Amino acid sequence: MHFAVLLALFSVAAAEVAGPCDEADCALPTCACSSTATPGGLAVASIPHFVVFSFDDGVTVTNIPFYRELQKRTNPNGCGIEMTFFVSHENSDYTLVNELYRNGHEIAVHSVTHKSDVGEYWRKLNQSQWLAEIEQQREMLNTYGKIPVEKIKGFRAPFLEVGGDSMFGALKEAGFDYDCSWPSLQYTPWFRQPDGSYKGALWPYTLDYASIQDQTVGVKPTESFPGLWVSPMTDLQDNRGFECSMLDACQSSPEGELETSSEAVFDLLKRNFRSHYNTRTPFGIYTHHSWFYNETRKDGLRQFLDYLKAFPHVYVVSVRQLLDWVRSPVPLSQLGTMSSFQCGQTLADNCPDKKNCQYNAPLPISNSEIYMKICNSNCPPNYPYLDNVDGSKPYS
Ligand SMILES: *[C@@H]1O[C@H](CO)[C@@H](O)[C@H](O)[C@H]1NC(C)=O
Ligand SMILES: *[C@@H]1O[C@H](CO)[C@@H](O)[C@H](O)[C@H]1NC(C)=O
Repeated sequence: MHFAVLLALFSVAAAEVAGPCDEADCALPTCACSSTATPGGLAVASIPHFVVFSFDDGVTVTNIPFYRELQKRTNPNGCGIEMTFFVSHENSDYTLVNELYRNGHEIAVHSVTHKSDVGEYWRKLNQSQWLAEIEQQREMLNTYGKIPVEKIKGFRAPFLEVGGDSMFGALKEAGFDYDCSWPSLQYTPWFRQPDGSYKGALWPYTLDYASIQDQTVGVKPTESFPGLWVSPMTDLQDNRGFECSMLDACQSSPEGELETSSEAVFDLLKRNFRSHYNTRTPFGIYTHHSWFYNETRKDGLRQFLDYLKAFPHVYVVSVRQLLDWVRSPVPLSQLGTMSSFQCGQTLADNCPDKKNCQYNAPLPISNSEIYMKICNSNCPPNYPYLDNVDGSKPYS
């Protein structure tokens, strides 16, 4: 206890304000300045173009069929595409998270509670509270989904509510590799500056030094977090001309067009992908399954993924794969030498015992009943939740 307090004081005292980044002091693979320059100074025409694909929230029997369909797609090297799943606790079927992991996808953290109160909850979290949301979700994924802790490296904040030094401090403390919650409007290929120019999209960078990225949601970090990566969420431009950080926030004019026309969904994706085409800066499809409730939208996405097949240099990847490449950038011709771009083999089943656990009120959430399916033959006595990961404590 006393030791912990001392440590906390020490880490506050040791926090250093991040200074401007000098390329001479910040070298790959461990350090990268925030920049629009191609990593490693490689010629743009020689590098692969990455389409980063992620889904947020619980993995459930409702959304798994679409994920299983998408994972049948392949990249130009013949390997399956890899997606990142930012998983939150509630409603997650951990046996299905396990399946996605064993099929080669990246499992990352999206908090335990995903509480909807941004102003009163997320904006007020201190570092130890962020740490609890982050570390405990990683523990749930490990305990109930049998995902190795060391494979869980990434984080996305609920509502992209970037929590400044408290949040990045917690990620650093928990030994995470990256955050992918930070949207950018200024650093996009399409947002016009007052002088008519475009800044272009940022590549992933580390927080050793001050970031040049604009902060549109949440709080910007001021301290230095050596070796902690930011994979920026470059805003899309929707069909009305406005920005959207997540695909499912994009709107259209006429309103509703993105529900009735798969062409409109395809056009939205294609236009934004094309805006990154000349610089080959990463293009992100960051979304929730719930946006695809309508078959029309699924068709639009399918058309876009079909369209990408025409480009031998375009790879649909997880954030993990993107960062592996950025750390040690190689031309497209040498991509096959990277372990991240070898075809992954489906891992052996480490979830043979499955149990669907049922819990009734009182619960730490508003439901009167909830199910939680886990890789184990025994159910925890109470619903596992924040500060009760093993479900040992009853609720009242
Ligand atoms: C963070 O907030 C919680 C709840 O208010 C409090 O118990 C804890 O001491 C705080 N931790 C730090 C490091 O300030
Ligand atoms: C779903 O898509 C169809 C076209 O396939 C459209 O006619 C319908 O309005 C959409 N449904 C909803 C609920 O938006």
